[in-house]
Amino acid sequence: GSWYDADIDHVIISEEQIREKIAELAKQVAADYADEADGLLLVCVLKGAVMFMADFARALGRHGPPAELEFMALSTYGQGTTSSGTVRIRKDLDRDIAGRHVVVVEDIVDSGLTLSWLTRYLESRAAASVEVVALFRKPDAIKVSVPVKYVGFDIPSEFVVGYGLDFAERYREVPYVGVLKPEVYARS
Ligand code: PRP
Ligand code: MN
Ligand code: MG
Repeated sequence: GSWYDADIDHVIISEEQIREKIAELAKQVAADYADEADGLLLVCVLKGAVMFMADFARALGRHGPPAELEFMALSTYGQGTTSSGTVRIRKDLDRDIAGRHVVVVEDIVDSGLTLSWLTRYLESRAAASVEVVALFRKPDAIKVSVPVKYVGFDIPSEFVVGYGLDFAERYREVPYVGVLKPEVYARS
């Protein structure tokens, strides 16, 4: 077993489900951008989207068009389980995105705050278009309206970890998505 097995109450999305869904999402995005000669710019929202970006970019590569990979680091949750309400840029884009077709690669839409801020930010940098692919979405996401064109899974409003999603920076390396046992929160 792995160190985290004892901390996970139950799995909600398996490794295989994640792999299959990413292949589907990549095909949809590839089809929608097939005619873009300049390809597209994937913007990964670190840290949570690190696993999704790595797998999604490779799946997209099989179907084209060419993609360039860019990274931003944003944080709203910090150490806790509830959003601070403020989006912090920990790492900004390091190149000009004017005129480019941008696809934001995000792990999860929860309140929608991070993405509503980010899509406005990218539009203000004069991207030709901005769409979002999010692997997970919680029902609360409808509170702040964010147009997310590509969504992998709608999941319940529980605090989940794994596949990039953390609790106080841990559990990102768990290969599936699961719910932590309540006593794990109580410990911190
Ligand atoms: C998490 C998650 C999303 C965001 C979603 O990031 O990775 O980016 O929160 O929540 P929202 O829709 O309520 O804004 P977090 O701020 O925890 O930073 P991290 O990616 O470094 O874990
Ligand atoms: Mn994040
Ligand atoms: Mg986090």
